[in-house]
Amino acid sequence: MKIAVLLLALAASGIAAAQYPTRPINLIVPFAAGGPTDVVARTIGLSMGKSLGVTIVVENKLGAGGTIAANYVAKAAPDGYTIFIHHNGMATATGLYRKLPYDPMKDFEYIGQVADVPMTLLARKDFPANNLQELIKYTKANEDKINLANAGLGAVSHLCGMLFQRALGQKWTTVPFSGTGPAMTALLGGQVDILCDQTTQTIPHIKSEKVRFYGVTTKQRIQALPDAPTLDEQGLKDFEVLVWHGIYAPKGTPPEALNRVNAALRAALKDPLTVAKLKELGAEIVPESKQSPEGLRTWLQAEIDKWVPVIRAAGTFAD
Ligand code: MLT
Repeated sequence: MKIAVLLLALAASGIAAAQYPTRPINLIVPFAAGGPTDVVARTIGLSMGKSLGVTIVVENKLGAGGTIAANYVAKAAPDGYTIFIHHNGMATATGLYRKLPYDPMKDFEYIGQVADVPMTLLARKDFPANNLQELIKYTKANEDKINLANAGLGAVSHLCGMLFQRALGQKWTTVPFSGTGPAMTALLGGQVDILCDQTTQTIPHIKSEKVRFYGVTTKQRIQALPDAPTLDEQGLKDFEVLVWHGIYAPKGTPPEALNRVNAALRAALKDPLTVAKLKELGAEIVPESKQSPEGLRTWLQAEIDKWVPVIRAAGTFAD
C-alpha cells in the first residue's frame, strides 16, 4: 500500500515537473521601468522565456530602494510563477533598514547570479566641472548647493553616492527617485546635479555626450568604455562599486520549478544575442559557478557580511 502511494506521488510530481510552466511567469523588478535593473531583466527575461516556452512578464514594483518588491516576493505564492531580480540592495538593505519585513537569508529560494555591472559618475551637461579634480573643487566650494539623485536607501546609486561623498568628506542634498530611470531623466533635464549610475543605462548617454562623465567605479578600466579612467586611477584610491544581480523565488518554490528556471537562466547567459546586448552595455556575465543557487546564496551572505558594518559605521539608516 505504502509503495503504491509513493509511486502515485512520484508520478504526480513527475507530471507537474514535466508540465511546468503552463502560464506566464512574473519577473518582479524592484525599480522603475527603463532603468538599469529593468534593462537587465528584460534582456534575460526574453531569452529565458524562449527556453521555458512561456512569456516572462516583467513587473516593476517600486519603492523604498527595492525593499517593497523584496517584501512582496518574500510573501508571494511559492508556485514557480513569481521570480525576482535584485542587485546588491538585497544585501545592503539589511544594514540600511532598522526593521526589514523580510529576511534575505531565510525567505527566498536562490536561483543564480546573472551579470556584474560597473557604475559611472555623471553630472548634468552644464555642470561647471570638466573633470574629477574640478568636480571635487567645485563641490567643496558649493557643498550646500549640490544635489545628488539616487533611487532611495538600498539602491546602488545611493551606495555609490554615499561612498563618493565619504571619500570627498562632503555631504550633499539627496533627491530620491523610484529608480535611476527617472533620476536620469531629471539629470538630462538639468533638475539634479550628480548621479552615480550603472553602465547598463548610462553608456548611450555618455556616448552621445548628453551628460558630463567623470569615470568608472571599477578598479580596472572597462571594455565597453576603454578610454574612460577609473575613479581609483584619478586619485580616489580603492574606490570601487560593482553591481551584481541575483534571481530569487519565494521560499518553498518547488525544486522542479527552480531547476527549470535555473536551466533557462544558464541558457540565457549563453545566448549570443543576450550576451552581446549585455556586453555592449558594460555588463559582464558571471562565471558558471555563480550561476548556481549555491553560488548566489554564498555570495549574498558574503555581501551582507561585507557591507553591513560599512553602512552601520557610516550611520545611514531608515526605519
Ligand atoms: C534601477 O534599476 O533603477 C537601479 O538599479 C536603481 C539603483 O539601485 O540605483
